[in-house]
Amino acid sequence: MSGTNGTHSGGPDPCVMVLFGASGDLTHRKLIPALFEASRRGWLPERFALVGVSRTAMTDDEFRERVWPTEKGKRIDAKEWGEFAQRLHYFAGDAGDPAMYAALDTHLGGIGVKSGVSAPGCSPNILFYLSVAPELYEPIIGCIGESGLVTEGRRWCSINPGAAPWQRIIVEKPFGSDLASAESLNRALGRVFEEDAIYRIDHYLGKELVQDILVLRFANSIFEPVWNRGHIDHVQVTAAETLGVGTRAGFYDHAGALRDMVQSHLMQVASLVAIEPPSEYNAAAIMRERIKLFSSAVPIPRERAPEWAALGRYGAGPDGPAYVNEKGVDPARGTETFAAMRVEFQNWRWSGVPFYLRSGKRLAAKVTEVVIQFNRPPTNIFRRLGPGAEPEDGNRLVIHVAPGEGLSLMVYGKVPGQEMRIAHTELELDYTERFGGEALEAYGPLLVDAMRGDRTLYKHRDEVEGSWRICQPLLESRRLHGAIEEYAPGSWGPRGADELLSRDGRKWHNPGGQPDGAGA
Ligand code: BG6
Repeated sequence: MSGTNGTHSGGPDPCVMVLFGASGDLTHRKLIPALFEASRRGWLPERFALVGVSRTAMTDDEFRERVWPTEKGKRIDAKEWGEFAQRLHYFAGDAGDPAMYAALDTHLGGIGVKSGVSAPGCSPNILFYLSVAPELYEPIIGCIGESGLVTEGRRWCSINPGAAPWQRIIVEKPFGSDLASAESLNRALGRVFEEDAIYRIDHYLGKELVQDILVLRFANSIFEPVWNRGHIDHVQVTAAETLGVGTRAGFYDHAGALRDMVQSHLMQVASLVAIEPPSEYNAAAIMRERIKLFSSAVPIPRERAPEWAALGRYGAGPDGPAYVNEKGVDPARGTETFAAMRVEFQNWRWSGVPFYLRSGKRLAAKVTEVVIQFNRPPTNIFRRLGPGAEPEDGNRLVIHVAPGEGLSLMVYGKVPGQEMRIAHTELELDYTERFGGEALEAYGPLLVDAMRGDRTLYKHRDEVEGSWRICQPLLESRRLHGAIEEYAPGSWGPRGADELLSRDGRKWHNPGGQPDGAGA
């Protein structure tokens, strides 16, 4: 059971995970490999089983064969995989059909007993996972509600509340496609599950260096005094990808970069940079701060959206066709593959400090980073020494989320020699080198957290709605969408993104020293 603050320090509870969307891409690519890795590291509860649900008819063995992960291009060793795979089961059925659930209930009871999760005649703890097409979310949640599988909210009337099994649900993104649909999904979830049984997943929150933001800020005392408008000029959050839409056009063409990345992942990352110190490291305290932060965002006037954001779409290049010619794309939809926006928080810490967020496909590098740009020194005492003796900019702290996890702090130093010359250099912390180990797939620890009842790295209803509220005027602006610019694949995006910053007298930090984004 989770504590009242939504954070749990104990181990994961025995449970059966019910994975809706078991034949989908995410299951095969991310979820099963993450669970396998968690099992290999001994993080999964000893008594654990997974039941994959989807419409395709398959036996347990066929399902295990289908989701068998690879490592460095080779299938995982059969013996190692075989042991774990025994925990995987399959149930064929239409999750949107209420008639399926009685049989699923019986099946879960059987699996619960077989895997030692529950005693005969008792229901197991159930962790639902929604990894299906978004339009199926509400029907499935409704069916789960009607099926009577969820008893958690009724625990108060149980004779022995401590012995009652729990039911939790992890909801994959996209969490809605705008504010209204996110509110509707939250209402549907709230009709069936208690808020503290709802786990809105954002895999960026599981990334080590994203989690490190709070450690950096609050386990050290040197940063917090300068972490404000008095010392920070602006913040940038970049998530750039080199790949195009690939085989995901069916989903992506309805979403676009703003919904797919900015409203979700980037807003969350920015929030950890910007929140006030939580009273303690626990879910309730952190969620409270994020909700407060999002509600302090300066509302973007829809009619002035182009001053706050820029959208782009990749053109044709040596590695593939233009987005509009990708398989499954409807050019008439006018979907963007790049989005950049400015967010301002109207509070005592950040008033007047812009946060610039950008993300795009087919850009110059696969990189996710946060840049904290500090102010320039208030005066330059070296000014009389002439060129070469002048700090060009303020200090810059870069949080390298991926790849190359680490931190670098740009500082100025004296170049050795008789003359006074100043050059910038980096103080670097390479996480892998310093702490060892490989960067983990973010999903594994997040799934284990849900089994422990720990929501610290998940999102609250109000913050999801809060971040949609910030983006909503951009989604609705015809002028913004009418001005989508094509950009050259391998660049840093459209000219409009550069202009967004240059209008404010700033420029993007383009990692790796590649040239600034040039419009196609
Ligand atoms: C997903 C988006 O949430 O994140 C994808 O739907 C994107 O479009 C992916 O490619 C990026 O994740 P990561 O962890 O590779 O940065």
